[in-house]
Amino acid sequence: MLARPSARHARRVRPAAWPLLDFLAPCIVTCSTSKPIHSPPARLRPLNDSQRRFLDSALRVNQAGELAAVLIYDAQTPLMNRSHPHLRPLMKHMYDQEAAHFGKFNHLIAKHRVRPTAMYPLWRVAATALGWSTALLGREAAMACTEAVETEIGDHYNEQVRVLLDWAEKTQARGEDLGDEMRTLMAELRKIRDEELEHLDYAVEHDAKEAKPYELLTNVIRGGCRTAIWISERV
Ligand SMILES: [Fe+2]
Ligand SMILES: [Fe+2]
Repeated sequence: MLARPSARHARRVRPAAWPLLDFLAPCIVTCSTSKPIHSPPARLRPLNDSQRRFLDSALRVNQAGELAAVLIYDAQTPLMNRSHPHLRPLMKHMYDQEAAHFGKFNHLIAKHRVRPTAMYPLWRVAATALGWSTALLGREAAMACTEAVETEIGDHYNEQVRVLLDWAEKTQARGEDLGDEMRTLMAELRKIRDEELEHLDYAVEHDAKEAKPYELLTNVIRGGCRTAIWISERV
């Protein structure tokens, strides 16, 4: 099952901030490696303030979200493994992917000197409580928690990918280049988004919708996720 291909699919401290990536270096002119050698060089376009704010906010909320995911699975896993040993590989697989996501955003937030959310301690407590309580309610409730969380997180990453694609198209239309580092970020966001949606599929396959009361549980968790995302983007 786990081997199947992807399912459907501040205060900012900023000196070394964003496209330092290539972006903050002003007036750099370079050749795009993706174009034929006879193409004219594409100018690297520095991020504007609005784009920098968006990326700072995106990294901050992504790091917070992945922290929460790690803690939810960490809290659920002992109870789930004890009651349903056959789920041990699935729980480990999802935990390992969340840990890798968290590591990625920890790296990026440090590299670009983005301030983590001030809500970090509260999210730690809330995520652990959510994971533990849903696992206590049973396998179906734990899976319903995953379904609800991954639905919101999948939408969240989709929106970020959509924004970056829009930047890339507009930049390309001006004959400019966003640069390799931004392309790498976009690819990473897509990969993480796909893995979150795999988790969603696993949860549905493992009877998330049999949880009782399913509607209440998932609506409360989804509302909590949206609220946490909104706060973490700002605080
Ligand atoms: Fe994740
Ligand atoms: Fe996930």
